[in-house]
Amino acid sequence: MSDSFKDDSASKGPFVGTDFQDEDFREVVSILRERSGFDLDSYKDRCIKRRIASRVRASGLNDSGRYVDLLRSDNSELEALLAVLTIHVSQFFRNPSTYRVLEEKVLPELVAAARGLGERRLRLWSVGCAGGEEPYSLALLLHDMKLDDFEISIIGSDVSEPILEKAQQAEYKAAHLFEVPAPVRQRYFEQIGEDRYRLDPEVRGMVRFQRHNVLADADYPEADLILCRNVMIYFSREEQNKILSRFASTLGRDRFLVLGRAETLMGTAREYFRSEYPVERIYRCQKRPAETAAAECR
Ligand SMILES: C[S@@+](CC[C@H](N)C(=O)[O-])C[C@H]1O[C@@H](n2cnc3c(N)ncnc32)[C@H](O)[C@@H]1O
Repeated sequence: MSDSFKDDSASKGPFVGTDFQDEDFREVVSILRERSGFDLDSYKDRCIKRRIASRVRASGLNDSGRYVDLLRSDNSELEALLAVLTIHVSQFFRNPSTYRVLEEKVLPELVAAARGLGERRLRLWSVGCAGGEEPYSLALLLHDMKLDDFEISIIGSDVSEPILEKAQQAEYKAAHLFEVPAPVRQRYFEQIGEDRYRLDPEVRGMVRFQRHNVLADADYPEADLILCRNVMIYFSREEQNKILSRFASTLGRDRFLVLGRAETLMGTAREYFRSEYPVERIYRCQKRPAETAAAECR
């Protein structure tokens, strides 16, 4: 790191993502890969640099070169950086109108289709499930639908092991339950502290959590409904496109995909999905990518 850069950064005010020197950014990427197995190559540089910059500021260094030195020598900084990079913000029934459409339209259609085929199963996958709020919200909906004759599988997956452990505990602060209707809260959540609520064990037992990196792991489970909300915003367009194609493969015709409010379909993925409830970012899969077309009529 040249002295002139240090002087510049000192006079420039708080360190921001664009202040990152390319070589320092590459070094952060390689430290993360080598020491934690976390691969940043597929993430958008701009978002990532902004987040790493928040750690440069928090460590009081204001200089990307000195931050690299800190990261090399301090394990707790590596942990802090990983936490910042995999932000785990979520809420039960986040965007409630989306859950209303799922409850009133999408799930009844999937149930009717399964009955029509003589199948009694429903497979739901919440990708990037953070603390479990999303898959548990699905479990709450299904619990109330009383599908006793159905085999229901709800998978919550995330790249972060610690957040999955938290998800399994199913204990939340009131802020995470803000959108839970009062009767549901009373029935399914037990207050266990001043600002702490625990989800009903039966609902908890409906969700299976597993570590899965949607960028790197090839084994996508088959599903009738995939929620992948507020996860791909950090990925490059190319990666988003690849993931969306894989979702189409694993869903098949007339199954559904839900994205986050700030996300949309792009590239070749638009061939596989049709926008069904545009405001809610709910898409119907209309065909699978060509290489799996033969398996289309399952
Ligand atoms: C902002 S949270 C979204 C939580 C929830 N889907 C929602 O919308 O409320 C993003 C989650 O995606 C996870 N994530 C980031 N990269 C991932 C990857 N490559 N594979 C799987 N999960 C990932 C993060 O660990 C984090 O828990």
